[in-house]
Amino acid sequence: MAQNDDLTRRDVMKLAGAAGITAAAVTTAATVAGPGFVKAHAQSNQIRYGLIGTGSRGTYLLSRLAKIDNGHCAALCDLDANSLDKAASVIGTNPKKYNDYRELLADKNVDAAIVAVPLYEHFPVTRDALQAGKHVFCEKSLVFKPEEVHALRGLAPQHGKQVLQVGLQRRYSHYFQATRQMVEKGILGDVTHIHAMWHRNPGWVMRPGGKSNPRNWRLFREFSGGLTAELASHQVDVADWMFGAQPEFVMGLGGLDTWKNDGRDIFDNIQLIFQYPGGRKMTFSAISTNSHCPFLGASRPEFGICIMGTAGAVEINIGDGQKTLPTALWYREPRPTSISPATEKTITEAGATFALAGPRKGLPIRMPQYEVDKDNDSFITRELKYARLWLYQKGVMIPEEDVNPVDTELQSFFHDSMTGGHPKADMEVGLADSTAVILANVAMDENRRVYFNEIQNLGKDKVNDALKEEAKHTA
Ligand SMILES: NC(=O)c1ccc[n+]([C@@H]2O[C@H](COP(=O)([O-])OP(=O)(O)OC[C@H]3O[C@@H](n4cnc5c(N)ncnc54)[C@H](O)[C@@H]3O)[C@@H](O)[C@H]2O)c1
Repeated sequence: MAQNDDLTRRDVMKLAGAAGITAAAVTTAATVAGPGFVKAHAQSNQIRYGLIGTGSRGTYLLSRLAKIDNGHCAALCDLDANSLDKAASVIGTNPKKYNDYRELLADKNVDAAIVAVPLYEHFPVTRDALQAGKHVFCEKSLVFKPEEVHALRGLAPQHGKQVLQVGLQRRYSHYFQATRQMVEKGILGDVTHIHAMWHRNPGWVMRPGGKSNPRNWRLFREFSGGLTAELASHQVDVADWMFGAQPEFVMGLGGLDTWKNDGRDIFDNIQLIFQYPGGRKMTFSAISTNSHCPFLGASRPEFGICIMGTAGAVEINIGDGQKTLPTALWYREPRPTSISPATEKTITEAGATFALAGPRKGLPIRMPQYEVDKDNDSFITRELKYARLWLYQKGVMIPEEDVNPVDTELQSFFHDSMTGGHPKADMEVGLADSTAVILANVAMDENRRVYFNEIQNLGKDKVNDALKEEAKHTA
């Protein structure tokens, strides 16, 4: 594995031939498949995929993939034979089993690779999959190290006909998309703040064997970006999407305060503030001592996001992907009728002991599928829809999305791979997200404000060293 983890000389030469690291930082991905590729797959209505990494996430993805018909599982790969056997029984297509991912990538029956290995291996596996001509779906966070941000961007132009999608499933949720439309249409006014949290109790527990047990990779900085990479990555991506921008800088405080005796070296609680252009801010909190999340009437523990504008707020939750699906509530902000100079009376009322706003009721966000279609719905369907709408309006039930966004992201990946479509969670989305993760960790480690343009120089030494090394070989 070691030789794969670092940038190879081959990567560096390709990177050097690309637009240049600094310039590349502001370019967009060239991942739209061209007509040549579309033709190659026109006869088939299924993409044949190989899934690499059949651990917890890989097996969950297979349980969803088993119900998706525009993809066919041709191969699986894992270092652990037991996990491979279990995963094969979950998908049930009698896939070819590999324990070396390069052999899977050489398999001509595989059109696309789904990458669900630990974070520190995302880049080498994704790079090799692209170079083997496969479409790639890589789990978040897309890359681990700063130099990998530059290297992947440098590789992209040579693989413009392949799809590269990142496992940021919120981008595929209809509720999150509806919220983004509310932001675009100004329904929430000027969106100034986003508050996100991911609270757990007891958080990640060390399995026996400590660092020598590969399943503990998340708990060690050598392999993991900690809570920032595993949890905050999803929600920072939502903030980038809602604000339509990347942060200018990040500040943060991380602590290893509860799980300090089991040998882990990542933080077990983190608090981050990202500043976006115009003074807009996103805050993120992850703790390991309490699973309370106050959004949506505390009905969904652990994680959630609140998007706050001058005219309203949306509380939104993706669901756990098993028992619960995405849901959201919209709170309208009563606008002040006029802003007049303060008087003695208003100054008193603005004191800390008075709440100036009355209680609010969250409104369900109605999706098109809840609306009654008088011409096409059967009598029973119409009655059911009226009953549900009544319950939603009374606040007795909160509507949920009717599909799991993980299913949507996977179907969409196969569809884009077949038709030359462009993924919503594309390489640039993934690299922006990875950059936020990397820089937030630097901010906590160095206890300082870290500016996002610092990424342009971070990791450059590694690339420069490798270039010098390459020059020695070619001299
Ligand atoms: N999108 C999401 O909501 C979400 C949720 C959970 C996990 N994830 C991501 O999925 C990835 C995997 O996480 P996990 O919880 O499944 O970890 P895990 O440890 O349970 O599984 C990783 C698997 O990869 C295998 N593996 C490691 N190196 C390999 C290699 N070189 N070749 C083949 N197999 C290899 C391991 O044997 C293991 O079975 C992580 O990047 C994680 O962040 C995403």
